[in-house]
Amino acid sequence: MISLNEPFLVGNEKKYLNEAVKSTWVSTNGHFLKKFCNKINSILKIKYSFPCSSGTSALHLALLSVGVKKNDEIIVPSLTFIAPINAVKYVGANPIFMDVQEDHNLNIKKTIEFLEKKTYYKKNKSWNKKTNKNISAIIIVHMWGHCSNIYKLIKFCKRRGIKVIEDASEALGSKYLINNKKKISLGCLGDVGCLSFNGNKVITTGSGGMVVSNNKSIIKKANYLGNQAKDDSLRYIHNNIGFNYKMNNLQAAMGCAQLENLSLFLKNKRKIHKYYLNKINKLGNFSVLEPSKKCWSNNWMNILQIKTDFALTPFDIHKFLKKNGVETRMIWFPNHLQSKFKKYQTYKINYAKKIFNNSLCLPSSSFLTNKHILFIVNLLTKLDKKYLK
Ligand SMILES: Cc1ncc(COP(=O)(O)O)c(C=O)c1O
Repeated sequence: MISLNEPFLVGNEKKYLNEAVKSTWVSTNGHFLKKFCNKINSILKIKYSFPCSSGTSALHLALLSVGVKKNDEIIVPSLTFIAPINAVKYVGANPIFMDVQEDHNLNIKKTIEFLEKKTYYKKNKSWNKKTNKNISAIIIVHMWGHCSNIYKLIKFCKRRGIKVIEDASEALGSKYLINNKKKISLGCLGDVGCLSFNGNKVITTGSGGMVVSNNKSIIKKANYLGNQAKDDSLRYIHNNIGFNYKMNNLQAAMGCAQLENLSLFLKNKRKIHKYYLNKINKLGNFSVLEPSKKCWSNNWMNILQIKTDFALTPFDIHKFLKKNGVETRMIWFPNHLQSKFKKYQTYKINYAKKIFNNSLCLPSSSFLTNKHILFIVNLLTKLDKKYLK
């Protein structure tokens, strides 16, 4: 079976894990934690970070740390993994669903249009004209490791008192290009960024995540809340409700080993993406999603785009490939249509469903060879020929 996105564990993972075990520092203290954070900070060129047990806990802490309150409203894209949407509910806020655009990322034009037409600015905050509730933050998800032209939106949000949370869970190593020259790591453009190190991500710590920011007080708050809100750790005084969200030293040991191979993973992923692109874009019914010109992508996941009038659905293609030993995955169901989220406000969503009906995630592990990809492409070529009009 060629799987979807397997970890590549070929470095010092076992060695560092053994070191951590030997040291007996296996919980939320230990030297690998410090080393891992420092390494991430230097790769991202960001000042501060807090290592978490998952990307989801990082998102929860990020929302709390920028000051989102109960009953606030948070702008989110409809098309994303559900974790950022759930995190909005964890803090008692409500999502406002926006559409995505052709590159699958948050629709910048519609989001700015919504803010201009449907909200007003008063007392340094933005308010929803429909509900009179404070829109205190936006979560920009960098889909598949790609980003769109987000700078204009981020500047707009800053002027409107809306905090920008970047969900860069899939985007470690990806960069935003300013004037085609200056590169800023995704996760570092807004007020706070979140990363995931789940087993299917570019690097893994088993499970794990991180909150990153150039704002010291945001990370201080994430650290405080993620560490059980200890106001006095000797006397066990807790003046707030905290969480047990910190990463442990074993996870960090694995992360340190994985980071040593980050550039290899990124190089391989770039090659895999180019090879898919070159082969699949020659077929009549299929193409591969490409990042926007504004993005230097880590190419975390390759997405097959299927022509709208093609005879088979993504699910049919998924079943055919599975029968032939290839694991693929449907992309996420639009969240504004999920039963728990149907009741929330949406704004002009039409791309999300279309994209859901035309896309399929292709195997993208960083150790895939041209031979693996050719095997997959040959299967797709069979389908392409069989159903050519
Ligand atoms: C966009 C996005 N956000 C958040 C998460 C949640 O991360 P985790 O699984 O580490 O909790 C994921 C993936 O798993 C993701 O893809």
